[in-house]
Amino acid sequence: MNKKWLAFSIILAFAGTSSLLHAEGNSDEGKEKSASCVSCHGEHGNSMVSTFPKLAQQHASYLTKQLHAFKDGTRKDPMMSSLATTLSDADMEDIAAYYEQQKVSINTQPKLSDDEDDDSQSPAKSEDALKAMLSQGADLYRNGDLTREVSACIACHGPLGEGNQPAAFPSLNAQHADYLIKALTDFKLGKRSNNPENMMHMIAKKMTDEEIKAVAYRISMMHNQ
Ligand code: HEC
Ligand code: HEC
Repeated sequence: MNKKWLAFSIILAFAGTSSLLHAEGNSDEGKEKSASCVSCHGEHGNSMVSTFPKLAQQHASYLTKQLHAFKDGTRKDPMMSSLATTLSDADMEDIAAYYEQQKVSINTQPKLSDDEDDDSQSPAKSEDALKAMLSQGADLYRNGDLTREVSACIACHGPLGEGNQPAAFPSLNAQHADYLIKALTDFKLGKRSNNPENMMHMIAKKMTDEEIKAVAYRISMMHNQ
């Protein structure tokens, strides 16, 4: 299983290099064209709302791919789908070039969400629960789970969550945990399946909701600055 993924990633990595030969977007044009994105994705692509993904520092190859997917309907979202139909190929490349050059903002230490914020718990205890969750997430990210064939995220998304530009494996680090949880749950349920061989579905379907949450919080704290 792992070997298959590895071989597949290598093929993708080589296939992806051809896209380097294509014209690159113009980031100055992209800045202007991204004016309509600011209300949701924030200044410089650092959104303030945790369910709107940050786009700052994301690989242009991945951004362009997702915008095409929203436009052709292979990825669906009530907010993005119609917006993407207004963008030309050149718009997408320019906007993607602009966001790739922005710096992603670092998240503050997460708080466990309300359902776990039991008032009877002492602050120290919830601090321990948070630590335990982050270390479970770190372990899954680095090692996966061999017995259940959950692939290690690090293999494709990199040691610092920086992703892989030529292969269009997205950067994940410093993304909002809430968005990551939503993305992984969409992959798990098959709601998002525009990726080659449905690879994220194959991985996420084997993860429990608890693991999804743990790895999402862990990734939200990673950064490569
Ligand atoms: C009304 C709010 C809204 C506006 C305006 C908006 N977006 Fe989005 N965007 C979203 C939401 C919500 C998602 C997450 C969709 C999902 O959960 O799958 C998203 C996702 C994306 C993604 C995928 C990110 C990823 O990590 O996979 C890209 C790329 C994107 N938007 C680009 C843009 C661009 C470019 C513009 C401006 C032309 C724009 N968006 C305007 C709400 C918005
Ligand atoms: C074999 C390579 C591979 C492995 C291993 C892998 N991923 Fe991915 N991941 C991808 C690819 C490719 C995409 C982009 C999918 C697309 O184009 O829609 C992706 C997308 C994602 C996204 C969506 C990002 C966004 O901005 O919307 C999340 C979240 C994610 N992966 C988390 C994980 C986690 C957590 C693990 C480990 C449990 C993992 N991935 C393991 C290849 C991989």
